[in-house]
Amino acid sequence: MGKAMFKSLRSEIDATMQRDPAARSRLEVVLCYPGFQAIMLYRLSSACWRRGWHLIGRWISAVGRILTGIEIHPGATIGDRFFIDHGMGVVVGETAEIGEDVTLYQGVTLGGVSPSVDSDSQRNTKRHPTLLDGVIVGSGAQVLGPITVGRCARVGANAVVTKDVADCATVVGIPARAVQTQKAPEPAKAPFVAYGTPTGNIPDPVARALDGLLDEVQSLRARVNALEGGGADTGNGREPAGAGDERDDETSETAEGKC
Ligand SMILES: CC(C)(COP(=O)(O)OP(=O)(O)OC[C@H]1O[C@@H](n2cnc3c(N)ncnc32)[C@H](O)[C@@H]1OP(=O)(O)O)[C@@H](O)C(=O)NCCC(=O)NCCS
Repeated sequence: MGKAMFKSLRSEIDATMQRDPAARSRLEVVLCYPGFQAIMLYRLSSACWRRGWHLIGRWISAVGRILTGIEIHPGATIGDRFFIDHGMGVVVGETAEIGEDVTLYQGVTLGGVSPSVDSDSQRNTKRHPTLLDGVIVGSGAQVLGPITVGRCARVGANAVVTKDVADCATVVGIPARAVQTQKAPEPAKAPFVAYGTPTGNIPDPVARALDGLLDEVQSLRARVNALEGGGADTGNGREPAGAGDERDDETSETAEGKC
């Protein structure tokens, strides 16, 4: 039990170190990272909540908010290696569900759409978002309602998200919409593309086709140059490459025959 707790504590600290380039040591994370401290207090408050000790759970959560500026309801469900960077102003609602390896920045709300309207009918219903594994939510973003943000999706800073987000999508703006980003796919996950056609996330199919054609022209030109060079080196009395159009045809044919 103690060993498992120590392991999970260590993995939370390591998650912080992996995801914050400013973190220099484990001790620094423990002493100076409100996100880490808030998660530790959440684990405690959540254990109380699940045992039915609701008031003490809420009280620990309130103390955590005073100490860290991060408010996590003890009824929320949070997976391993959760990382909150900076943290001030983060709010995680009662029925929020958070997968593993999720990252939130300061000022993020995982909230209800209109908790103050007809509050009684909303009690004990799912009204906060679900964030699947690997989601990153940028600073100031508001994710509202019982929606699902798909695996490894990214929510831009200050976005307001009120609809489901697809796996791996990046959404920005108010209301949040999916965007193409400049980030190239990881090499291991990148699909094979014949002739090195650039993937480059080019959204326009015409631009993509033109890019492919330009590549083809370039490779043909390189080949013609090589063939012409071969013809000039033969020393068989023919004129050097590029001497005239009719000669070009002849040279090409001869060189072709040699291939
Ligand atoms: C959303 C985000 C992850 C995208 O990053 P990226 O993959 O590098 O994407 P790009 O920079 O290629 O942006 C793609 C498009 O979305 C726009 N965009 C990016 N972030 C945006 C945002 N938060 N709000 C509105 N538009 C945004 C870009 O201007 C670009 O638009 P364009 O194609 O018309 O030029 C990033 O911009 C972001 O908001 N990260 C949050 C980080 C954060 O909170 N940091 C705080 C640390 S303390």
